[in-house]
Amino acid sequence: MRIAIAGATGTVGRHVLAAARRRGHETVPLSRASGQDVTTGEGLAAALAGADALIDVTSVETLSAKVAVDFFERATERMLAAEQAAGVPHHVALSIVGIDGVDASYYSGKLAQERSVAAGGVPWTVLRAAQFHEFAGQVMRRGSVGPLVAVPRALVRTVAAREVGERLVELAEGGPLGRARDLVGPEDARLIDLVRRRLRADGIRRPAFEVALPGLYWRSMASGALRGGAEAQRGAITFDEWLRSPNHTAP
Ligand SMILES: NC(=O)c1ccc[n+]([C@@H]2O[C@H](COP(=O)([O-])OP(=O)(O)OC[C@H]3O[C@@H](n4cnc5c(N)ncnc54)[C@H](OP(=O)(O)O)[C@@H]3O)[C@@H](O)[C@H]2O)c1
Repeated sequence: MRIAIAGATGTVGRHVLAAARRRGHETVPLSRASGQDVTTGEGLAAALAGADALIDVTSVETLSAKVAVDFFERATERMLAAEQAAGVPHHVALSIVGIDGVDASYYSGKLAQERSVAAGGVPWTVLRAAQFHEFAGQVMRRGSVGPLVAVPRALVRTVAAREVGERLVELAEGGPLGRARDLVGPEDARLIDLVRRRLRADGIRRPAFEVALPGLYWRSMASGALRGGAEAQRGAITFDEWLRSPNHTAP
């Protein structure tokens, strides 16, 4: 198959690209560096010619609901229009488990993206996944207070981005499914424990402490509502296995 990957340079996009190549597909990686911008539509028509599926793993780094909704609505609209023009028969998008009823902050953008995909007229599949093991590193970067690391209170079931990438390619190989079965990680954990394990593994001596943050977004993280239900598919790679793997690189 010829598979276009929007966001192929990102945390999970790199794994989507590698999995698609391992599985013998012809790949078309899209990113701004290679001349495709999903928010303006620049470069999409040429890139999508002859594609059998587009996997969308783009993102915007924000906690503003407005910025997130603007990004995901605009990007989805532009991609679907280009797919319709090029005759691409399958749009595969990645979303996040447990976000129903959490119309706040970044998740507002993901809910808007899911609505746009479902209403867009291109046959689709949406996979919802839990936070990636890599999430602990993103939290460490955002939560640095001098030498300290402030970690939001959160109950998580993180999954390896590598397994999410592999699953997205499998879904692209199949026909459009609508909502696919959720994918979550093998273990429950507190985010603060993952951050501490990561700091230890990287030999970094920085104290990490937990903070309870206000607002629906953070309350949902703290309650464990974003871990997915019992029916979710479980990934196999644990956080500690991921820490020891080449997929984890120390900062
Ligand atoms: N991180 C998590 O824990 C997690 C968990 C579940 C689901 N997800 C979902 O997974 C998806 C990917 O997340 P991620 O953490 O892998 O994102 P990321 O590392 O921030 O990567 C974002 C990707 O989007 C591309 N991009 C951004 N703006 C673009 C634009 N205007 N035009 C073209 N490409 C653009 C970037 O490429 P360039 O900057 O090179 O252009 C990059 O490849 C998101 O939809 C997210 O909601 C994430």
